[in-house]
Amino acid sequence: MLVIPKLNQTRRLKRIAVLTSGGDAPGMNAAIRAVVRYSISRGAEVVGVIRGYSGLIGGDFISMDLSSVANIIQRGGTILKTDRCEPFFQKSVRREAAHLLKRKGIEALVAIGGDGTFAGAHLMEKETGFPIVGIPGTIDNDIPGCDETIGFDTAVNTALESIDRIRDTASSHDRLFIVEVMGRDSGFIALQVGLGGGAETTLVPERDESVSSIAKTIDRGLKRGKKSSILVVAEGPKPGFSTRLAQALTKYKFQPRVCILGHIQRGGVPTARDRFLASTLGAAGVAYLMAGKSQAMVAVQDSKVVFVPFKDIAGKHKPLPEGPLELARILAG
Ligand code: F6P
Repeated sequence: MLVIPKLNQTRRLKRIAVLTSGGDAPGMNAAIRAVVRYSISRGAEVVGVIRGYSGLIGGDFISMDLSSVANIIQRGGTILKTDRCEPFFQKSVRREAAHLLKRKGIEALVAIGGDGTFAGAHLMEKETGFPIVGIPGTIDNDIPGCDETIGFDTAVNTALESIDRIRDTASSHDRLFIVEVMGRDSGFIALQVGLGGGAETTLVPERDESVSSIAKTIDRGLKRGKKSSILVVAEGPKPGFSTRLAQALTKYKFQPRVCILGHIQRGGVPTARDRFLASTLGAAGVAYLMAGKSQAMVAVQDSKVVFVPFKDIAGKHKPLPEGPLELARILAG
């Protein structure tokens, strides 16, 4: 069970802003709800920023009260909307955003998002001193210093449900399927889905595998009586990876069908695990701000809520553990 560490409330904050940025993730709404309700319970007003850093630059703010977050804990997406904001890479834009927040009487910001969101937050606080706390929300689970991001568990469960359906067709037709899951630079979704879905092969951006070795694995299965196979592949950095792989496998006399799960993995009702994680981290983010701490992400490490400085994660890649990948290989038979 996750527990928020006991923190002394040393900073009296009158007004806090909250935003979601980057790709939406199931559970972001539960995190927004926690930020709003926990802040109000500690005497602070909350301002919602619409569409992430774009709304911050444009001053697109709404006032949030207890009822503004009613009935959202079970909803996917983000009621605050989100964006990937290129202009926020500019120093002058970040400085202007901090001025705007101060002019509106806002004293701290909670930014819910992924590594891009935290990179922007890190720079803005370093340059302007404006206090920011990050909450990890992305389906990719690719943020270093954090065991699990909000949205990952739901995305994995959504993909697994699809794989189970595809397996029905694969075994009815004795077919080979390539199922592509999200993850450009990171194979966490593929790894968990491959292992949990019993995939014959799991391909991740972190490891290269030749087409001939993939073909050999499928062949081995056929020789011992397997009639159908599922390959789980992460999308990787270049669009169309699964289609290119299918094409390459035809040279080995296979005729794979390709199923790209795409944005289906981003939406939907958050799992219990994601709701609990989001509620805890959202409240913990505010608790840390009120304890006078900032420039860091609130995360879970080894089942504990911890505070990880942005500088310790900036520009780093979260390594994919070797063990589960090897286990997926062994269990595929
Ligand atoms: O960061 C989450 C994610 O869904 C990645 O897995 C995926 O590569 C990317 O976003 C897709 O981004 P967009 O929705 O902007 O196409």
